[in-house]
Amino acid sequence: MGLINETVQVVSNQQVGPRLHLMVLDAPAIAAGIQPGQFVHMKVPRMEAHILRRPFSVYVRDVEAGTIDILYQVVGFGTDHMTSLQPGEECELIGPVGAVWNPPAQGRCLLVGGGVGAAPLFMLCESIVASDASVDVVLGAQTEAALVCRDRYAKLLGDEPRCATDDGTYGRAGFCTSLVQEALQQAAEEGAPYDYVAVCGPEPLMKIVAGLAADAGVRCEVSMEKRMACGIGACLSCVVDTVDGKKRACVDGPVFDAGKVVW
Ligand SMILES: Cc1cc2nc3c(=O)[nH]c(=O)nc-3n(C[C@H](O)[C@H](O)[C@H](O)COP(=O)(O)OP(=O)(O)OC[C@H]3O[C@@H](n4cnc5c(N)ncnc54)[C@H](O)[C@@H]3O)c2cc1C
Ligand code: FES
Repeated sequence: MGLINETVQVVSNQQVGPRLHLMVLDAPAIAAGIQPGQFVHMKVPRMEAHILRRPFSVYVRDVEAGTIDILYQVVGFGTDHMTSLQPGEECELIGPVGAVWNPPAQGRCLLVGGGVGAAPLFMLCESIVASDASVDVVLGAQTEAALVCRDRYAKLLGDEPRCATDDGTYGRAGFCTSLVQEALQQAAEEGAPYDYVAVCGPEPLMKIVAGLAADAGVRCEVSMEKRMACGIGACLSCVVDTVDGKKRACVDGPVFDAGKVVW
């Protein structure tokens, strides 16, 4: 599907965790076309002095209702301003942008979401659940209140995802990388190793998980959330160093083969 520039309406916009907000947008054209891994580039209204769009992954899409959900973390001016958007307000989206995840059609998959990185993996998880492959999920967050995607994953999987919190308020205490290491090891010992790992979250987490997957001989993909200006491949503000040279996260990614990224 080609790029659409769609004027969409805010349906709801609520705080769901510490610095975490969920915005539901009435965006029927983008909802119908977007694929797991792709993102939208949002022109935040009433922000005339800041003309750059902000890129966001789609957490959930509902094709029938024509809506997309964006889970966003408040980190700066744009995302702080987004919290003030009211139901009924209009904004402009370009999408769907970027490359998709490439899970295997069959076999065993492991998805690893750190912080708000749990959101861009949810549509991928849905597509794997609907396929002949199987999927396990590891989620990490600073604290229990920030594990805002946990219930939705549990409902989809029919089981709790494996969770870790930095402060030990839920699941394993510490970083979720120990859960990833254990899952890879256990699967190999059971004689049913993973065929694919997908990871999204802070870059240090992705780098560690990419290394663990490489050590285990498992194909791994990462979603590189680089700062973006144009979002359409023209400005080179989002480059990722790869073994094949510099690539643009907005159009060559954001999903990359982790084995090709020069960390
Ligand atoms: C493909 C893609 C998908 C994304 N999906 C999501 C998502 O689903 N939910 C979400 O909360 N965020 C997501 N992000 C990150 C989001 O775009 C930024 O957090 C947002 O643009 C920051 O805008 P701001 O005006 O609030 O921050 P600014 O005021 O511009 O910057 C504030 C701080 O945020 C950091 N920052 C800015 N842009 C990014 C970025 N792209 N990645 C990481 N740090 C950044 C800056 O380094 C700075 O420290 C995604 C980014 C990309 C590239
Ligand atoms: S944001 Fe301009 S090339 Fe990627």
